[in-house]
Amino acid sequence: MSKLRVAIIGTGGISREHMQGYLALPEDVEVVGLCDIDEEKVRNYAKNYGIDEKCVYFDYRKMLAEVKPDAVSVCTWNAEHKPATIAALEAGANVLCEKPMAMNTAEAMEMEAVAKKTGKLLMVGFVRRFGNDAEVLTDFIKGGTLGELYYAKATYLRRNGWPGGWFGDKEYSGGGPVIDLGIHVMDLVRYLAGNPKPVSVFAATYDNLGPNRAVGGRGAWTSSSHKKKDYKYNVEDFASAMIRFDSGLTLSLETSFNLNIKKDVGNIELFGTKGGASVSPEVEIYTDINGRFVDVTPFGETALSFNGLFAREIAHFVDCAKNGAPCRVSPADGVTLMRMIDAIYESAATGHEVEIKY
Ligand SMILES: NC(=O)c1ccc[n+]([C@@H]2O[C@H](COP(=O)([O-])OP(=O)(O)OC[C@H]3O[C@@H](n4cnc5c(N)ncnc54)[C@H](O)[C@@H]3O)[C@@H](O)[C@H]2O)c1
Repeated sequence: MSKLRVAIIGTGGISREHMQGYLALPEDVEVVGLCDIDEEKVRNYAKNYGIDEKCVYFDYRKMLAEVKPDAVSVCTWNAEHKPATIAALEAGANVLCEKPMAMNTAEAMEMEAVAKKTGKLLMVGFVRRFGNDAEVLTDFIKGGTLGELYYAKATYLRRNGWPGGWFGDKEYSGGGPVIDLGIHVMDLVRYLAGNPKPVSVFAATYDNLGPNRAVGGRGAWTSSSHKKKDYKYNVEDFASAMIRFDSGLTLSLETSFNLNIKKDVGNIELFGTKGGASVSPEVEIYTDINGRFVDVTPFGETALSFNGLFAREIAHFVDCAKNGAPCRVSPADGVTLMRMIDAIYESAATGHEVEIKY
């Protein structure tokens, strides 16, 4: 079978993970198009990866029309996910769109409808589904060790971690840590719990600390789109939410760009009728055997490792696009996460619980 002809739209930070994932599959994939509105950036990017200059574009519609790729990675800022994804689907490509799927539920539903109409694959980049921690926990959950899950805690807290640039500007990002960080752990909990339907949300968001915390500067979190200087900073910097699902599960979420906390934390904890589990710093299971409480540490590497994480996600996308393998992330999953995020922002704005209507 011929190689999958792949193009990348948006050649910033995360696109490098996509590119490395594609380059790791030389038998299956050929990178045939690269596009960014930042001309210097995309030219240097192509040079760095040894991709021919004729593959470089500054307008994705032109690239899609001329190159006609089989598959496209959408790695732009969030506001461009919908138009780029729809253009790529309509040009006949399968699409891997970075998270969040879109700016809001309405946009995500439009994308889902176009995927359906064109019959093309649309996968959302929920990369945590490909983590070694997720794989280990899935085995325990499927094996019944935790019983029925009824409560989960998900935290993604940074003390000083606004990524910079467009990430703080709602017009480009759609929001702050909820849509950028919290989405990862909310999706992971939902995935491990068997993708239940969220039915209501109560949430609060705050913007007390702002972007420019003096202590330690901005640290390691930097978007590659800093050059444009006129981004606004108008997103939340902390959010807390309680989300109820139709399975009876409730999820408590805490997420921040900036918070007066000692150390950054990222964890999910699951509580079931037979056992509990935590993923960070490594997977642990809490249960009882023969009338005694036991803490079980599965053998091997279970701490989330970024080594190979994106490569597994990209390899899965290629397998789905090329061989028709069933996809681990559906457009409906992307839409569901947008429903949860919209409800979090609505509840925070109104001060009331929000019922998610279908
Ligand atoms: N899965 C993850 O863990 C993860 C991690 C980081 C970022 N992301 C997601 O990846 C996306 C990109 O984030 P990033 O950190 O790479 O940002 P970035 O700012 O480094 O890169 C975004 C790039 O998109 C380009 N772009 C914007 N509009 C465009 C258009 N119309 N055509 C072509 N290029 C365009 C920008 O010029 C920029 O180079 C975001 O949606 C973000 O949420 C996911």
